[in-house]
Amino acid sequence: MKKILVIGATSVIAQATIKLLAEDGAEFYLVGRNIDKLNIMATDLKVRGITRVDCYAMDVTAIEAHAEMLSKAINFLGGLDLAFIAHGTLPDQSACQLSVTKTITETNINFTSTIALLTLLAKYFEQKQSGHIAVISSIAGDRGRQSNYTYGAAKAGVSVFLQGLSNRLYKQGICVLDIKPGFVDTPMIARFKRNFLWAKPEYVAKKIVRAIKNKKQVLYVPWFWFFIMLIIKLVPKFIFNRLAL
Ligand SMILES: NC(=O)c1ccc[n+]([C@@H]2O[C@H](COP(=O)([O-])OP(=O)(O)OC[C@H]3O[C@@H](n4cnc5c(N)ncnc54)[C@H](OP(=O)(O)O)[C@@H]3O)[C@@H](O)[C@H]2O)c1
Repeated sequence: MKKILVIGATSVIAQATIKLLAEDGAEFYLVGRNIDKLNIMATDLKVRGITRVDCYAMDVTAIEAHAEMLSKAINFLGGLDLAFIAHGTLPDQSACQLSVTKTITETNINFTSTIALLTLLAKYFEQKQSGHIAVISSIAGDRGRQSNYTYGAAKAGVSVFLQGLSNRLYKQGICVLDIKPGFVDTPMIARFKRNFLWAKPEYVAKKIVRAIKNKKQVLYVPWFWFFIMLIIKLVPKFIFNRLAL
């Protein structure tokens, strides 16, 4: 994977993944809304021996900026081999319940922006007849729960979009990876109490890089979330509705 576009590059999971990808001597185009953080990352990558790295400041909800960002990334790197999408926010569900505006804002960040980016990326890779797309969704998308269903619905939408994309692009040798983490120790969930199910971002990054190399299409990380979510999905509705999940 030589030429890599990372959207949401300042995410702690993305940062850990970028460090691992850099060990193979990749080149990067880093996109995020905080240019200062991106510049620090670029400097760090240069210290690690990465010669080609540039940054682009973009709020992902500025859909009109996506095409320019992508064309700059392609020009700078001389093409793309991998696009990795990692941005996201975990809203307070009770705040979403009280506000249509908040619900729509969060959906725009976690769903609309991602499928807009994927539409452009799919077109690019399809024309190129090769490439790799990796996106972080979440186990929260596997079944709607009262504690986080605005976020969960957005992530479920992303996962279904990725399923369709994978089905469309597979025949052309383009790989689409849906990454479904459980709890990962990053600022996103810093307000929650830690428990034994939490994973380190470095561990998650290692599994992401391995899944990309092995051309996996779905990654539950850590692996046990596949079974936890399988059980949660199998709970009958009449019992599920009585639980506070
Ligand atoms: N941590 C978990 O437990 C967990 C579990 C399942 C899935 N995930 C998913 O993993 C991905 C990475 O999250 P993380 O855990 O690494 O959390 P994080 O460190 O808080 O990263 C979230 C990233 O999203 C970016 N972002 C948010 N809104 C944005 C916007 N409007 N425009 C551009 N960038 C925006 C943030 O940018 P700033 O740096 O500028 O704030 C930050 O880089 C997310 O998609 C998240 O939903 C996380």
